[in-house]
Amino acid sequence: MTNEVHGNTTGIRKSLLQELSALYSLELDADQFFSAEAAIYLARLTALINREIAVYLTRGGEVLDVIVGDSDHVTLPSYRLRRSENRLSRVRVIHTHPRATAKLSDVDISALVALQLDSIAAIGVSEAGAPTGISAGFLGEWQGARPEIIETDILPLERLYRAPWMQQITHSEELMALREPPQETNIERALLISIEGGFSIDELRSLAETAGAVVADVMIQRKDKPDTATFFGSGKLKELALKAQNVDATMIIADQELSGVQTHTLETATGLKVIDRTALILDIFAQRAKTREGKVQVSMAQLKYQMSHLIGYGLSLSRLAGGIGTRGPGETKLEMDRRLIHKRYDQLSAQLKELEKQRALQRKKRQQNAVPTVALVGYTNAGKSSLFNRLAAENVYVQDQLFATLDSVARRIERKDGQPFLLVDTVGFISNLPTDLVEAFHATLEEAVSADLLLIVTDASDREAVRKRMTVAQVLEKIGGDHVKRLEVLNKSDVLLPEVQAAFPDASLISALTGAGIEALLSRIGEALSGDRVHAELRFPYAQTGLVRYVRQFGSGVFERYEDDCLIVNADFSKDALGQLQGALSPFMTFDETNCKITEVS
Ligand code: GTP
Repeated sequence: MTNEVHGNTTGIRKSLLQELSALYSLELDADQFFSAEAAIYLARLTALINREIAVYLTRGGEVLDVIVGDSDHVTLPSYRLRRSENRLSRVRVIHTHPRATAKLSDVDISALVALQLDSIAAIGVSEAGAPTGISAGFLGEWQGARPEIIETDILPLERLYRAPWMQQITHSEELMALREPPQETNIERALLISIEGGFSIDELRSLAETAGAVVADVMIQRKDKPDTATFFGSGKLKELALKAQNVDATMIIADQELSGVQTHTLETATGLKVIDRTALILDIFAQRAKTREGKVQVSMAQLKYQMSHLIGYGLSLSRLAGGIGTRGPGETKLEMDRRLIHKRYDQLSAQLKELEKQRALQRKKRQQNAVPTVALVGYTNAGKSSLFNRLAAENVYVQDQLFATLDSVARRIERKDGQPFLLVDTVGFISNLPTDLVEAFHATLEEAVSADLLLIVTDASDREAVRKRMTVAQVLEKIGGDHVKRLEVLNKSDVLLPEVQAAFPDASLISALTGAGIEALLSRIGEALSGDRVHAELRFPYAQTGLVRYVRQFGSGVFERYEDDCLIVNADFSKDALGQLQGALSPFMTFDETNCKITEVS
């Protein structure tokens, strides 16, 4: 143990620092809580520097630490126990209140609870540097996670030696042992922070819950923009550190994007892992990605994010092996340095190119099959997967969580008398989807851009429906999908809000849950698709019947009829596919009215 005085020692004269340092040689008996002489000594120094002074004592009376705070506050370092331990810390803190009474403040009480101190005591100090009295707080009986607080009266110092405070510590210890042991869980307790309130904090809450965290509390500071170095202003930062201890948070999640420096400051102030909204979304994506392509994309987005936040990873990357914000589908990122990150990024990038090629091939094949594609798009949790299931009678993954669908999935829907189509589910949209993520999921979203028809699904029971629908429009525009033909679908008609219905008068009102409106929706899909469909009757001389394979390739519902002089083939095409067929046939025959009759499908 060194004799160094910690905390806010800037500007304190060397001789005073030496006097403070002398506190380390304080000797107390094992049954002595504190001595009146030491209290007088502390009070004098407190008045001289006009700052709080805290002395940490072990149960046996040895000085563990001496810390100088501000005029109204001292930041207590964590001699903090692991949360699961059912014991006191065996440390008590005696500290001064310059120009204030010895009454314990709320801050003192929260430190007592959060650090599970043996006791916290305050010495009131007059302007002249005389101790005005001492009072102490102890932990009493526990009710669940909360202890009763036992506060003593303020005693004059001469009565300190008779106060049975060491016995009280033993009693607190006994009560602590009776406490129901807290469940040892891996569930993170997140304290959400934001510089503005409103809707987005609710969404952050859902995101945190989706990632598997419990939201311990929310702290909002209303200001124009975050402080570039500290995020919150300095006073609020202190409040945050205390609140984090108070609510037993295990991590902090910021609603706004954090710079490396801000992350670092917040981590230092709270001693907790700190992540921002982007890292949180990435974490959810990391949990959800199922296809190889999806996993590679998430890994890349995570690496990119880490590269720009390397400085902030003091705690998140080195101390905590896992948990929200550090999960990834790829290999562990804990000990990676910048060079390794770059190398891994390049490898993934090459892998992704390969996978994208495969996907492009698959898509081309689908297009060649001439079956039009219908993509479900919409804000996360609107019910796209449920509708997908309802339409495809397929059981894909449906959960009341955000982003249950990460990678797009496709099913062929074929009805007795309707136009067959390929139904594609896509990743849920969200406001302010971080740019990296839009890039990362471009391939998934491309399904939407290249679809023949979009079903834009909106949650009819959501008061934020209109705003979310606008976000969907913005994302579509960003990915170049704003020109695609679309149908508005209002889902969850079983829990409809009339004002939402009024805002979407032309939408198909359905319930994926009950099946209401599904038939009518299918008819509308059929109508919308047939607008693009044509029927063609083609005549092939017998010498060229080999060309019929192109019709099979580009058309659907192919029907062949043999006439005396030729083979007549009837088939349906999308206008695109018909164009492709003409291209394929052009070296062998020209399309004219005698050999090709085209009619619009009504
Ligand atoms: P992401 O994958 O996050 O984009 O979500 P999603 O849009 O695919 O939503 P999902 O189908 O997972 O549904 C979200 C929640 O809404 C689930 O709890 C569903 O059970 C519920 N839900 C879906 N359709 C309906 C409906 O018609 N009525 C009611 N009451 N709930 C529904």
